[in-house]
Amino acid sequence: MRVDRFLSNLPRFNRKQVRLLLIAGQVRVDQVIVRDPLHEVREFSQVECAGEVLQAGRPARYFMLHKPMGCVSATQDPQHPTVLDLIDEPDRHELHIAGRLDYNTSGLMIITNDGQWSRRLTQPQTKLLKVYYVETEQVILANYADTFREGIYFAFENLTTQPAHLDILGDYSARLSIVEGRYHQVKRMFGHFQNKVLRLHRESMGPLQLDPQLAPGQYRALTAEEIQQI
Ligand code: URA
Repeated sequence: MRVDRFLSNLPRFNRKQVRLLLIAGQVRVDQVIVRDPLHEVREFSQVECAGEVLQAGRPARYFMLHKPMGCVSATQDPQHPTVLDLIDEPDRHELHIAGRLDYNTSGLMIITNDGQWSRRLTQPQTKLLKVYYVETEQVILANYADTFREGIYFAFENLTTQPAHLDILGDYSARLSIVEGRYHQVKRMFGHFQNKVLRLHRESMGPLQLDPQLAPGQYRALTAEEIQQI
């Protein structure tokens, strides 16, 4: 939210006072004096006015996890281990998953407390490629690639999938790149050809690649460079 809105939403300031406080250099966001009324205040920003802390701010947190098979993409589950059970952080109850994976899908999972950032990663409009390694029950035929490029109609959502790119690696294996994350999307795309997906592994989401040093179940914080790439 804009800093002038943030301040004038507080009962103690009217809009004129906010303007004067900004001009007088009385407002600091993350320790820096801010005079621009359009300056963005985030839930993670610390905001001070005339030396008084109005919002304490808290750290934004970003992790990549190598999701193992047999684990639920949820914050809580009564029966199965969840991906959040694998995260040993004091504030893990504040974290959410950016782009779920099915119970038996493995691979890159991003976990954060920054909703604005995670939306950029998952919204179909941003067209970030999600790359999956796939193994199937039946032979993958060359014509799959054309159909995936043209899009497949999903009756339940009444939509046609965005163009996807298929690299056939072998008779039963391929690498599929999609920009959306519809429910069971990859399995349903292969399901269009009555070809069951036996193994599914997410290798990357946009510029974020699963770190090969991470064994299934391990995680690490994202680097500043990785965070900025989204
Ligand atoms: N598509 C699927 O079908 N399952 C996943 O877990 C991810 C993408």
